Amino acid sequence: MSKDIVQIFDTTLRDGEQVPGCKLDTTQKLVIAERLELLGVDVIEAGFPVSSPGDFKSVQEIAKLVKNATVCGLTRAVKKDIEVAAEALKFAKRPRIHTGIGTSESHIKFKFNSNKDAIIERAIEAVSYAKSFVEDVEFYAEDAGRTDNEFLARVCEAVIKAGATVVNIPDTTGYCLPDEYGAKIKYLYENVNGIDRAIISCHCHNDLGLATANSIAGVINGARQIECTINGIGERAGNTALEEVVMILRQHPTLGLDTNINSKLLNDTSRMVSQKMGMLVQPNKAIVGANAFAHSSGIHQDGVIKNRETYEIIDPLDVGVDESSIILTARSGRAALAYRAKIVGYELTKTQLDVVYQEFLVYADRKKEIVDEDIHQIIETSTINIESIA
Ligand code: KIV
Ligand code: ZN
Repeated sequence: MSKDIVQIFDTTLRDGEQVPGCKLDTTQKLVIAERLELLGVDVIEAGFPVSSPGDFKSVQEIAKLVKNATVCGLTRAVKKDIEVAAEALKFAKRPRIHTGIGTSESHIKFKFNSNKDAIIERAIEAVSYAKSFVEDVEFYAEDAGRTDNEFLARVCEAVIKAGATVVNIPDTTGYCLPDEYGAKIKYLYENVNGIDRAIISCHCHNDLGLATANSIAGVINGARQIECTINGIGERAGNTALEEVVMILRQHPTLGLDTNINSKLLNDTSRMVSQKMGMLVQPNKAIVGANAFAHSSGIHQDGVIKNRETYEIIDPLDVGVDESSIILTARSGRAALAYRAKIVGYELTKTQLDVVYQEFLVYADRKKEIVDEDIHQIIETSTINIESIA
């Protein structure tokens, strides 16, 4: 079955880099941009050029470097921002300007002290102006998650008429439930005149831990671009994690959707971004966390040793992890101990295993995790004689 491709729009270098402590210099950004291109992302949001001379320079250098991916610069619906972004993107092979404005009641009232008609006018002006510099213009309706669907449809229709190639529907505050966000995308897909001339994009934040679920609900309902970051970094609780949406689509082929990402590079890319940004990845993080393929309870270990698929839905090799690991703790069983003992050089008979296992439990109760040296220590000092097979 041929699959529809969902474009991956990576905003690690823009929404991700906004995180306190994650600031990168141009050289570091270039290294990450190069890696993102190798990973296969379709769009790299390289920065917000008007925000600082450093960000302008980074976007400019990334625009020169990147060969295949679209390079995108963020702007507000402000002429100066758009001019500066166009200048920064001048050397890009595929430049995109990402402009937009808040559309929810609270943004219109408190941020802009404005009204709905005036917001639509500014949106049209911004897109038309951006269009005078580049062909590819993406429009974001900030806080679309809390914008009423009828007004959002009016905004989308107006900006597509003005030439927007992508309409971005951000759940800026991470408020939506997956059903609600999916229904919003469906509503736009079915009610916006001219929607066939644009791609609908999902940009979801993770304030309630729903960013990935919302993005998936979006593409199930007609969106064809997901905005995301490596390791899910981003404002507050972060953005949709790139590695999660990519693997969800890959592990669920019946959805009929896929991406251009080379998933074997996911683990390495995650480590590289974490290291460059000084942002640790939580060990239980889906796909790229240190424990994502580690099994520590006896029941699970026994299953995985018999057949990996009993407790693993992803082959670790598919995301660039060499193998699953069997972690020895006081919760491990005999099967795990025998398995790890064999790896480090001891083939235990049933009688030997019975004795060593009791000694192992006493040792493991004192220590959080049993490493290879501990196994040697336990076996060499065991009350039962064991020959090494090494
Ligand atoms: O979260 C958001 O609304 C954004 C926009 C600027 C796209 O990051
Ligand atoms: Zn955002």
